Amino acid sequence: MEDPERSMALDLVRVTETAALSSARWLGKGDRKAGDKAAVDAMRLSFNTINIAGKVIIGEGEKDEAPMLYNGELVGTGSGPKVDVAVDPVEGTNLLALGRPNAISVVGIAPAGSMYDPGPSYYMQKLVVPAEAKNVVDLDAPVVDNLKNIAHALSKDVNDLVVFVLDKPRHQALIEDIRRAGARIQLHTDGDVAGSLMAVDPKNAVDVMMGTGGTPEGVLSACAIKATGGEMFARIDPQSKGERNAVISAGIDLKQVLTVDTLINSDDVYFAATGISGGTFLNGVVFTGHGAITHSLVMRGKTGTVRYMESHLCFDKLMQISSVKYD
Ligand code: FBP
Repeated sequence: MEDPERSMALDLVRVTETAALSSARWLGKGDRKAGDKAAVDAMRLSFNTINIAGKVIIGEGEKDEAPMLYNGELVGTGSGPKVDVAVDPVEGTNLLALGRPNAISVVGIAPAGSMYDPGPSYYMQKLVVPAEAKNVVDLDAPVVDNLKNIAHALSKDVNDLVVFVLDKPRHQALIEDIRRAGARIQLHTDGDVAGSLMAVDPKNAVDVMMGTGGTPEGVLSACAIKATGGEMFARIDPQSKGERNAVISAGIDLKQVLTVDTLINSDDVYFAATGISGGTFLNGVVFTGHGAITHSLVMRGKTGTVRYMESHLCFDKLMQISSVKYD
């Protein structure tokens, strides 16, 4: 298998920057579809300047519903390494539409054949912990035991811990268990990719991510966790009868515990994210009058390097060479 080159990191961050810039114009305007479409259009144009033979494994859905960046779509120039591609042009479409924190644009790539294909699964139970705690938790253990063990591994008290949980009715019992254990909680309406990444970032106040969120978001998060060295324990967790029947028919084992290595079966993975709305994960897009400032991070699994980038863009100059429309 031909390895993606290390300059890939910079190529990928251009893709998320472009999507973030285009969608940030829709911040707080209440139109989640328009914000998402702006990001998808920009991301696709940008992807097709990169020398990869990419196949979208995690995309905007099936071909019939998603005109672009659909699962199975080929992206890139077609020359260069064969890679699996995961995209979420706007992770947190509601966050963007309502002007709430932590809407981000994300992509991950890994060598062809190494990315977990979620098939018809929409939802996955996840437990994301920093590297120090990866051997002391169990998806089936009581919440209080996991939290005690994580606190011990991080040399903290349980009441020092902050757990990221999506604020959904399905998490009522989980939230009560966490509170009973004495840990603190950040409840977010959306955005568990940011939640997962905050949990493995020692600089962030979040220590753990728990609960059920999107399966595609789980695979995308795994691309990043592979580079940063934390761990995710996950299990397909259908939320309706239809989804359950579909995943069982697809041969998915509902008991199997998936780890970062099962979700991304290669170290040669890249992940990039750019903030759209800003927040505790990445600052958002700032329009300056003649251009914009964006805030991104990019990771390379092979080396474990994580780079934070602030880009200052000048729209007049960009418009002389770019196929993406900046204004
Ligand atoms: P979208 O950007 O596709 O709207 O996803 C946002 C999100 O909150 C994800 O971060 C999360 O994994 C998933 O939705 C949870 O799904 P649901 O809102 O249906 O519980």
